[in-house]
Amino acid sequence: MSTHNECQDPGDPDATPQQPARRRFLQSAAAAATVGAAPHLRAQTQTPAAPPAQINPSVPPRPVTLTVNGRAYTLQLEPRVTLLDALREYAGLMGTKKGCDRGQCGACTVLADGRRINSCLTLAVMHEGENITTVEGLAANGVLSPMQRAFIEHDAFQCGYCTPGQLCSATALLNEFRSGTASTVTADVRHRPAQLSDDEIRERMSGNICRCGAYANIVAAVRAVHEGRGASSAASGIDTARPDNA
Ligand code: FES
Ligand code: FES
Repeated sequence: MSTHNECQDPGDPDATPQQPARRRFLQSAAAAATVGAAPHLRAQTQTPAAPPAQINPSVPPRPVTLTVNGRAYTLQLEPRVTLLDALREYAGLMGTKKGCDRGQCGACTVLADGRRINSCLTLAVMHEGENITTVEGLAANGVLSPMQRAFIEHDAFQCGYCTPGQLCSATALLNEFRSGTASTVTADVRHRPAQLSDDEIRERMSGNICRCGAYANIVAAVRAVHEGRGASSAASGIDTARPDNA
């Protein structure tokens, strides 16, 4: 008796002797595939479950003392708090503005021991012991600084959002120029820049963006203070020995 007939569908008039062989082939191929996959499946089931991801516990706040505009502020800060957030959210000094929060616009410029910095790019805990000056500290005893008055006289702002940063930056700019610091447009960096040209001012203020486009008037205001022009600029000079008023 033929083995073909054992597997042949008796109801199928078109069945041929090759069909049972083909069926056996498919069955054995399927079995081989199952056997081949089995070790992998066992490996999957036997792999111990990964431990739960470690979540770093937050570092608790600690007291941080910042000297801002001549006044000491002791704030409870986590180490990750930026100087900008410490000033605005913890010390309540909202004059310093948050624009981009990533060092690109200059709205957050403040002075740290007279140097201008982007307060969004630095941590508050790094500035203990320094004298921080914000726009609120540029005026002395209620009298606007020469730069503040020059900005008003020269109409150097529109919406004013960038203005605190512009004022801090411009104030430090004059001190940097007077101390002989070169810029990238200084013709010979081995020597003090001969004069504070408009190109020098523009370059040195290039880290402060003004979306209202008040640049021409900002340059005019900075130049006026540098040259001592205008009745207001004679009221007080910029004193590098007083970083809280620099
Ligand atoms: S907010 Fe700091 S540079 Fe823009
Ligand atoms: S005055 Fe509006 S962004 Fe400068």
